[in-house]
Amino acid sequence: MRSASASRVDTPSVEAILADGALTLDGRLIESSNNAMVGTVRLGDERLRCVYKPIRGERPLWDFPQGRLAEREVAAFQVAQAAGWRVAPPTVLREGPFGTGMVQLWIEHAQTDGVATVFPVGGVPDGWLPVMHAVGADDQPLVVAHADTPELAAVAAFDVVANNADRKASHLLVDPAGVLYGVDHGLTFHTEPKLRTILWGWAGRPLPDVVVAGLRALQERLRGPLAAALASYLSAAEIDALAARTDDLLADPVFPEPPEDRTPIPWPPL
Ligand SMILES: Nc1ncnc2c1ncn2[C@@H]1O[C@H](COP(=O)(O)OP(=O)(O)O)[C@@H](O)[C@H]1O
Ligand SMILES: [Mg+2]
Repeated sequence: MRSASASRVDTPSVEAILADGALTLDGRLIESSNNAMVGTVRLGDERLRCVYKPIRGERPLWDFPQGRLAEREVAAFQVAQAAGWRVAPPTVLREGPFGTGMVQLWIEHAQTDGVATVFPVGGVPDGWLPVMHAVGADDQPLVVAHADTPELAAVAAFDVVANNADRKASHLLVDPAGVLYGVDHGLTFHTEPKLRTILWGWAGRPLPDVVVAGLRALQERLRGPLAAALASYLSAAEIDALAARTDDLLADPVFPEPPEDRTPIPWPPL
């Protein structure tokens, strides 16, 4: 006879479905620079829409090791999860029709403009934080701004410790239930400072308590099994650098100021 707890164990987790389900492809993401595809994974009666980014499709970059972006996306999910943040949708590394790649839960019906976007000068809504001035196609002055919520602050703190070089507005998704996710975490975990983000609105301000709590959980786990798990995806130097960034942010729990010696904002910012 199956006990209640056994039947819970029998229900595959989202990660198990992503990792072990049969993967079929439905189409390509047209705007993707890394040949990202949308597909479906099926395991028993379970079926999930997913993103599949094969390592073979990765565009070479001068400053990141070739063929390692998919692994960084998996590491990003595991780091966010260790902090108790949903910042990345569940993500695994597995085989697919075009070889090894990352497979990530697709966030259905996501909105991208409710978190960070552009406004005409003077039009930033109350409670939003302006980040930079820009000029529109018709020379009209614009302001890039983002919302001011603890969930988005957790994304910003994640980006600091993950050293995310590509936090643009289109990489922030809100599902129909209002849950915020970040995507496209391939440009992360470099050993040198690379943070490029539009989430500078809290620069110089203290981290919210809930963010500090998440970072403490991450710090704790990095001293335990998380470091061993991450060794499948990141080098020892990259894991050490992640731990050092986490320690540093907790030692001085204030959102950093944008650097002056390199580009602080990804291009395009949206
Ligand atoms: N897990 C996801 N769920 C829903 N939409 C996604 C997901 N991942 C990516 N997207 C959408 O697809 C776009 C391209 O994906 P992205 O990960 O940025 O690919 P690339 O590596 O080519 O830049 C994103 O900007 C986002 O709109
Ligand atoms: Mg992208």
